[in-house]
Amino acid sequence: MDCFALKGTFIDTPTPDALRVREGYLLCENGLCAGFSRTAPAGVEILDYTGRIITPGLVDLHLHAPQYSYCGTAMDLELLDWLQQYTYPEEAHYADPEYAKLGYSYFVRDLKNSATTRACIFATLHTDATLELMHQLKDAGLSAFVGKLAMDRNSPDTYREPSAAAGLAETRRWLDTCRTEGSLHAGPVRPMLTPRFTPSTGDEYMKGLGELAAEYSVPAQSHLSENPGEIAWVAELCPDTKFYGESYSRFGLFGNNVPTVMAHCIYSPDAEAALMKRNRVMIAHCPTSNENVIAGIAPAAKYLHGGWRIGLGSDVAGGHTLDLFAVMAAAVQVSKLRWRYIDQSEKPLTMTEALYMATVGGGDFWADFGENVGLFEDGYAFDALVLDDAALKNMRTFTPAERLERYAYLGRGALTAKFAQGKKLL
Ligand code: GUN
Ligand code: FE
Repeated sequence: MDCFALKGTFIDTPTPDALRVREGYLLCENGLCAGFSRTAPAGVEILDYTGRIITPGLVDLHLHAPQYSYCGTAMDLELLDWLQQYTYPEEAHYADPEYAKLGYSYFVRDLKNSATTRACIFATLHTDATLELMHQLKDAGLSAFVGKLAMDRNSPDTYREPSAAAGLAETRRWLDTCRTEGSLHAGPVRPMLTPRFTPSTGDEYMKGLGELAAEYSVPAQSHLSENPGEIAWVAELCPDTKFYGESYSRFGLFGNNVPTVMAHCIYSPDAEAALMKRNRVMIAHCPTSNENVIAGIAPAAKYLHGGWRIGLGSDVAGGHTLDLFAVMAAAVQVSKLRWRYIDQSEKPLTMTEALYMATVGGGDFWADFGENVGLFEDGYAFDALVLDDAALKNMRTFTPAERLERYAYLGRGALTAKFAQGKKLL
């Protein structure tokens, strides 16, 4: 099925404040959008979803695959205690290949069944388990950057690499394996260097990762300015830095030539935010996680309107759901709390802006690798979701925008179909 068309009610967001609604046919050719028309294109198979809302596939810019096993539990602690008491003990289990295979099979099954078509994913520090996850994602037809974690300090012996040198050797082995396999290097599933966060990754290790990023031309991801206790700890660990982000930037792991996703950026001071903007660091805003691990509320509207690159992340299992529509609703909700309680300089986010961040915003990360993602425009990846909101119907007539909003807020809809790069996954 190299060439086909969908029929339905298409919704996308050419700009953060424009919800575009079009009735008609979207043509797919070789995995790309190849024309929108009001009338049926001739000579191709038409998949008829008349009456259904169709949105671009959603982009999850930040989540942790091994944490999916305890998702929805362990919600009583703040970040640093949560990591020590719940996260590290669970992630340590992924040293066992059987455990990893099984754990990742549940994760990948549910991600495939979700609204997510693309993601930037943290695995664990285990090379072989990370490769297992990458294979499963590729087999599922998803696009993803996946990170073997780099961790050589401040976690239990059972979940820490013995030294920077050992960790760097494993990271190189992982990158070489991806290269050798080819399909894990330039295909839809690729490696991404992942110092967990500065408290986990010492200077020598971080420096080596910066060198590997340049040598192998791979992107990077980490956490940044998520929690006040974490930020104070980084200041102690890195007394020579002026702000947290410098603990990455001084080793070449903060955008610029190395495309980088930084999760959270809730408390970024002006100098840090300015460097993020200058280096085109991609911000992953994770509102559900921020609520659960008591992090705070990121200034997402400031970033969105002020020229930063920003998308959304579920941050499972700090976030309690893989469902990015729920994350979109949470982004709107917490932006109102921010406006009411913290800062009235930016208006709260709208659902249109939330959809923009979950599609065009996060999708822009793939532009650094030559792919257009997030819109129903010619030459963009044919990533599309057909929404089933039959369960939400009542005596009222809703506009397409309202139907999208209800789908996100009520959480009782389902997917009728899902396409990723022109392939039907559901
Ligand atoms: N900072 C370091 N590790 C983690 C993690 O696993 N989740 C979140 N939310 N923050 C982190
Ligand atoms: Fe995270």
